[in-house]
Amino acid sequence: MAKIIPVPSFDCVVFGATGDLTLRKLLPALYARFRDGQMPADSRVIAAARSDLDDAQYRDRAAKALRQHVAAAELDEAVAARFYAQLRYARVDGTTDRGWDTLADLLHEMPQERIRVFYLATSPDLYGPICRHIGQHGLVTPQSRVVLEKPIGHDLASARAINDEVGQVFDETQIFRIDHYLGKETVQNLLALRFANTIFERLWNTDVIEHVQITVGETVGVEGRGGYYDGSGALRDMLQNHMLQLLCLLAMEPPVSLDADAVRDEKLKVLRALRPIRPHEAAAVTVRGQYTQGAVNGQPVVGYLADLDGAGPANGEASRTETFLALKAEVRTWRWANVPFYLRTGKRLPQKVSEIVIQYRGLPFSIFPADGLDLQPNRLIIRLQPEEGMRLEMMTKEPGPGGLRLRATGLDISFEKTFATRYPDAYERLLMDTVRGNATLFMRRDEVEAAWTWVEPVLDAWSNSPDSPRPYAAGSWGPTASIALIARDGRTWHEELG
Ligand code: BG6
Repeated sequence: MAKIIPVPSFDCVVFGATGDLTLRKLLPALYARFRDGQMPADSRVIAAARSDLDDAQYRDRAAKALRQHVAAAELDEAVAARFYAQLRYARVDGTTDRGWDTLADLLHEMPQERIRVFYLATSPDLYGPICRHIGQHGLVTPQSRVVLEKPIGHDLASARAINDEVGQVFDETQIFRIDHYLGKETVQNLLALRFANTIFERLWNTDVIEHVQITVGETVGVEGRGGYYDGSGALRDMLQNHMLQLLCLLAMEPPVSLDADAVRDEKLKVLRALRPIRPHEAAAVTVRGQYTQGAVNGQPVVGYLADLDGAGPANGEASRTETFLALKAEVRTWRWANVPFYLRTGKRLPQKVSEIVIQYRGLPFSIFPADGLDLQPNRLIIRLQPEEGMRLEMMTKEPGPGGLRLRATGLDISFEKTFATRYPDAYERLLMDTVRGNATLFMRRDEVEAAWTWVEPVLDAWSNSPDSPRPYAAGSWGPTASIALIARDGRTWHEELG
């Protein structure tokens, strides 16, 4: 049984309260923590946005959002009614002075020592102005924290500018930069796999591991987020944060403890050890694609340009934004010398799946008769979502007569069957961690900037190249160049995916 430890009472001010992230993720997550008794009943969620709404109208919106985004079996109307009563609405404009006095009055209703979370679920260009206003109105108490959603900027310079502006109001220890992949149970399980099991960590290096694959596939397209997505693309939206964080957890040295800085110091070293991709190499080690019309799960879907529905480049030209990328990364350390990490992610792929494949090296020598023998090197497949679990593929003897015949079989763990429990959404854990002030699963400033430093030359190479992203049919595993990228090294993407 999960152990639920209530957090201290808090006020959480959510900027961007009428936006997609708040309605789809934050309110359902807060509701779930309230329902399970983790969010104390005198806590408040202060929804802040520009729309002209009052408490009752916002509560109606929240109710609609919960009915839409929480599974019916998990939505208890009586509990939800008590949750709505904890929602307040403040009409605040992040860019002007309007509404800030009302917000300040609301916050001052509670004692100064109460924990205050400012959650910025807005576009990153508002992070600076909102923090400035928070500071000018004297709303930062010692028990305050600010949560910044990704993306932090769109390149290194803009990330630094945002970090500087936020840093003028909040101390680094008060800044929680969210990457929701770190809140996923199975992502945290990577720490358990590596550091709670001797058999893996001792063999977690170039002596035994031949290469690593990380795939994050999505079946969705841009889903009405064209305005944001077209200015971003897969590299900024998924690689710079989620995928590099996965890579860090896989490649980092054992931290001395689970303290926030101990873990983040080790992740930072990985980011700094990534071999820079120089502009002239980008074409050889990266592939970018853009989906065209096709079919996903048997349903015909339109291509990216049609999906944008007018949200593309202002000059009316066809968008060159990538919805798929594959690349080969190298971590230059003793542990990982000669172990490439192949990463790929994309929208409108055949499956929603996040998976890590650890491919071990082949046998140094075989004593088995070569005749008809298909010796497969071991492979560890870590399924992050859905059908969370792990499989270790190994060679075994086929039972029965006929000589020593070998076959690859798998040691399988399905977390769903083992734990028979609901997997909480990543935001539930991360929201409670911000209230508790535990920053282990959040990104430190230097990490975010190191990640931008590494991806920026690729962004530059792509934008300076006359080539457009390669087309791929929606419902396929990306452009064929992605297969060629890994095939050039004599390898293939995990075949069960494609
Ligand atoms: C978000 C991206 O950070 O992650 C989205 O902005 C993407 O484009 C999403 O769809 C994927 O998250 P998950 O949890 O569905 O794998």
